[in-house]
Amino acid sequence: MGFCMTDDRVEEILIHNDELKKGIEKAASWIDKNYFGKEPVLIGLLKGCIPFYGHLITLIKIDFTTDFMVVSSYKGTNKSSGKPEIVTDIYTDISDKDVILIEDIVDGGYTIKYVKEYLSKKNPKSVKVITLLDKKEGRKVEFEPDYKCFDVADKFLVGFGLDYQEKCRNLPHICVMKKIK
Ligand code: IMP
Ligand code: MG
Repeated sequence: MGFCMTDDRVEEILIHNDELKKGIEKAASWIDKNYFGKEPVLIGLLKGCIPFYGHLITLIKIDFTTDFMVVSSYKGTNKSSGKPEIVTDIYTDISDKDVILIEDIVDGGYTIKYVKEYLSKKNPKSVKVITLLDKKEGRKVEFEPDYKCFDVADKFLVGFGLDYQEKCRNLPHICVMKKIK
């Protein structure tokens, strides 16, 4: 069960940690299969990606390099502003490289669409997106991730990296947050 249910901010556990790990194993296999003979750059979108990224890289068998970006889109609320901002850019020269963006959740789609377009201007060979969660009902712009581990309903989620006002990232499961009164 884990300690989420003793957290009074949590309504229910949506995806248990064991299930998350199984989903992440499949994502690693997808990378091994699709990037065999290549050396992709795995760019994590901080900070939500941390547990997903951390688990994923220990399961990938092919060689790859790592980098990160800090992109803010929420500004401490539970509604996306729709205007992402690149707070910290990558260090890697990605020209002619295969890039895989690692995201925690695609909701409205603004953040990932913006980052993908931004990185595409740096002349990579390819840019693909892997997301742990896809909240398709929340979509405001047209965007389809290349790989998703789980589809989720349009509810506000916390845990396994996802935050509410920077808290709850440490919960081991993906949980539905209680409605804020
Ligand atoms: P989008 O630009 O609307 O797709 O928002 C994507 C970003 O918003 C994600 O990278 C998350 O950081 C955050 N986000 C979206 N949905 C949730 C949620 O249910 N809980 C916590 N953060 C979320
Ligand atoms: Mg994020």
